[in-house]
Amino acid sequence: MKMVSQLVIMISTVVFVSFCESLSYIWPLPWNCTWGNQTLSVDPSLSLLVNGNSLIVQQAFQRYKRIIFKHGSNLPPTGLHYHINSLHIFLKSDDEELQLGTDESYSLLVTKTDPHSIVGGITIQANSVYGALRALETISQLCIFNYEAKTVEIYKAPWFIQDKPRFSYRGLMLDTSRHYYPLSVIKQIIDSMAYAKLNVLHWHIIDEESFPLEVPTYPNLWKGAYSKWERYTVEDAYEIVSFAKMRGINVMAEVDVPGHAESWGVGYPDLWPSLSCREPLDVSKNFTFDVILGILRDMRKIFPFELFHLGGDEVNTGCWSSTPHVKQWLQEHNMTAKEAYQYFVVKAQELALSLNWTPVNWEETFNSFPEKLNPQTVVHNWLGGGVCPKAVSKGFRCIFSNQGFWYLDHLDVPWDDVYYADPLEGIRDVFEQKLVLGGEVCMWGETADPSNVQQTIWPRAAAAAERLWSNKEATSSRSSAQLALKRLEYFRCLLTRRGVQAAPVKNKYARTAPVGPGSCYAQ
Ligand SMILES: *[C@@H]1O[C@H](CO)[C@@H](O)[C@H](O)[C@H]1NC(C)=O
Ligand SMILES: *[C@@H]1O[C@H](CO)[C@@H](O)[C@H](O)[C@H]1NC(C)=O
Ligand SMILES: *[C@@H]1O[C@H](CO)[C@@H](O)[C@H](O)[C@H]1NC(C)=O
Ligand SMILES: *[C@@H]1O[C@H](CO)[C@@H](O)[C@H](O)[C@H]1NC(C)=O
Repeated sequence: MKMVSQLVIMISTVVFVSFCESLSYIWPLPWNCTWGNQTLSVDPSLSLLVNGNSLIVQQAFQRYKRIIFKHGSNLPPTGLHYHINSLHIFLKSDDEELQLGTDESYSLLVTKTDPHSIVGGITIQANSVYGALRALETISQLCIFNYEAKTVEIYKAPWFIQDKPRFSYRGLMLDTSRHYYPLSVIKQIIDSMAYAKLNVLHWHIIDEESFPLEVPTYPNLWKGAYSKWERYTVEDAYEIVSFAKMRGINVMAEVDVPGHAESWGVGYPDLWPSLSCREPLDVSKNFTFDVILGILRDMRKIFPFELFHLGGDEVNTGCWSSTPHVKQWLQEHNMTAKEAYQYFVVKAQELALSLNWTPVNWEETFNSFPEKLNPQTVVHNWLGGGVCPKAVSKGFRCIFSNQGFWYLDHLDVPWDDVYYADPLEGIRDVFEQKLVLGGEVCMWGETADPSNVQQTIWPRAAAAAERLWSNKEATSSRSSAQLALKRLEYFRCLLTRRGVQAAPVKNKYARTAPVGPGSCYAQ
């Protein structure tokens, strides 16, 4: 810290602006910035100096170097030197543990390399390796290729940026049951999430339509996949988790019970109450809970993230009451169908808790029986507004995904509705605000597959990503909408330059192609 503060004092020509509003090319907007008016060239053979032994940081540096130095560079004429030759990372810890609330803050300093000093160039300070990753993303956005000089340059240096996330949970949900996504596509999505500093991939792996995941304990379950080629092996799932971790992204898996589970019965028809009633799962059989425990045990080995999603939404119990043996079980247990739904959810929660997972449930469980839920439960809002305020007032934690704004499959929601939605809406109490973990945009897969998923996610997911990362005061005034729009247009072009098929920002139906010829920056 001392080194950085000395350097800041050295910079006498900085312009201090409390917010970073006028930065046209960083998304999401950092918290605090100062800058100057120099243009500095960056050496394509930029070297890394970092304390500790984090492979994650070293690989991220190589990844970002490939992004930054994409174009061939002119060799510098003899005698001419690049202004920036080295990147120093000072980590407080090189521990690679990634959990909810892992420190992602960083400070970043960009100055001319001073041949007489050990510092200069680019300096990052971070408490964790993941803070360093966020800083590298910011640097990659500051580095601009100059087509005339054929060098990478940083404008408005010297820079001093202090940044941190507003919320610890910044998610994107991907649904691999309604359509299957090959590993390569999931990896592209994870890569693009890191560009917007999102940090949780909520993997809605299984639903009523298909069961693509291998579960060794119950090997017939993935007979419920669409085909034998549309499946994920245990090794595939490990690979996703490790690929995401390299980018500072946790994977929260979901097993949505007792509704949304028809596909389970393809391999084990006993899980269906009857052939004509295939959903919800049969509450009357112990086998049902044996299978859930088997799935959870197998998944626990793959998914180290402390949160695990148990679904619990859209449970229509009508078919329990009309299936004779289930009806009889309900009578014997003195339960209404509604009480059996509650019994099921609570029992599934107990199984997840026994494996040291914190349960997350869609809001219907909270709306129906809040007093029965485990106090650890994270309530996942989706149906509409006002749910997180109720959940946190009862002491539960909450994730905001109001479908009116943050369901990406709702194609009629324009970017600015996504942008101005706020997870803390209606919550004044500071302690209750802290119970809101953040939010998540949801990419339900009924009408998306590998052919169009990226342009449905982007650029609108980026609007939510800035809401979840940046200072609200700096980004929420409607009067600055024009500035935000310009920056978002710039970010969507940055995504396209990096190979992400992000749709034009202002198209009528979210993911439609541009209407005619034109610059990326004007569409
Ligand atoms: C850069 O800023 C300093 C201080 O504001 C000023 O004196 C100088 O003329 C500026 N240089 C350029 C090239 O604009
Ligand atoms: C931004 O600056 C303010 C005022 O100096 C400070 O209180 C705050 O902690 C800074 N924010 C970050 C993320 O460093
Ligand atoms: C099902 O589990 C319950 C509670 O653990 C137990 O009392 C019951 O005997 C089991 N039923 C069968 C058929 O195994
Ligand atoms: C059945 O449940 C009702 C309502 O929960 C309760 O009032 C009643 O005592 C129960 N009867 C038996 C036999 O457990």
